Amino acid sequence: MPARFDGKVALVIGGSSGIGLATVRGLLAEGGRVVIAARDAARLAAVGQELLGAHQGRVAWVNGDISELGEAERFVAATVTRFGRLDILVTSSAYNYTRAIVDTTEDEIDAVIRTNARGPLLAARAASRAFGPEGGRIVTLSATAARRGRPHRSVYAATKGAVEAMARVLAVELAPRKITVNCVAPGLTDTPMLGGDRDDPNRTRQVPMGRLGRPEEVATVVLFLASDDAGWVTGQTVDATGGYGL
Ligand SMILES: NC(=O)c1ccc[n+]([C@@H]2O[C@H](COP(=O)([O-])OP(=O)(O)OC[C@H]3O[C@@H](n4cnc5c(N)ncnc54)[C@H](OP(=O)(O)O)[C@@H]3O)[C@@H](O)[C@H]2O)c1
Repeated sequence: MPARFDGKVALVIGGSSGIGLATVRGLLAEGGRVVIAARDAARLAAVGQELLGAHQGRVAWVNGDISELGEAERFVAATVTRFGRLDILVTSSAYNYTRAIVDTTEDEIDAVIRTNARGPLLAARAASRAFGPEGGRIVTLSATAARRGRPHRSVYAATKGAVEAMARVLAVELAPRKITVNCVAPGLTDTPMLGGDRDDPNRTRQVPMGRLGRPEEVATVVLFLASDDAGWVTGQTVDATGGYGL
């Protein structure tokens, strides 16, 4: 029986850590070829080399910053150059920003928007240009913050709301080309993004399941939306939260 991602080529922006890395591992385990993009060249190469050990010839990486103009296009071009096609774009990179609006600077707002909203938009544009006649899958990581009124999260929430809006509109716009566009919104997930106090009981108390999510528990939803099984699902944001935020 063929694996779910046999013959598929994916670009995972933010694939060197956390949910993105769990997604990369899942794509590779199920037969896919994957290009990983991230900023920290040393971590990226270490992750890439480790994955190459088990998946010879099916993983490559490209170093860069999605917040810089032209970089998302370069990531897509590098993927097509390396593996000859593109079928799946996952954008998992983000700038996790928490600050009272009265203390927020224009430069910080700009940086968060460039990373979390403009970057995914440019990545989606580049991928939709690169997808072939078979169509494609675009999955962007959002956050439940997009739809909750938690203090000090206005800038981050605004950018996550933007990617959810992007998914709804592009789902309609790109449907005639068999391209689906969806978001996954994790709750509190045990990754480096969560910072030092991962075991803080005040955090886990907020989760009805009583614990943090594992990156793999979010990646499994990303993988479904990236697969052929999800061809009838588009324009949606799927929460993977253990009940957090309900
Ligand atoms: N963890 C949570 O509790 C949680 C909750 C809600 C939503 N989310 C969302 O889930 C997604 C994944 O988060 P995570 O927890 O897996 O984070 P993570 O472990 O910190 O991983 C983030 C990844 O993105 C890359 N990245 C960050 N900024 C980048 C940039 N400007 N250009 C290119 N790559 C960049 C990082 O590598 P470099 O630093 O080397 O670039 C890394 O590979 C994010 O969109 C986040 O907003 C997470």
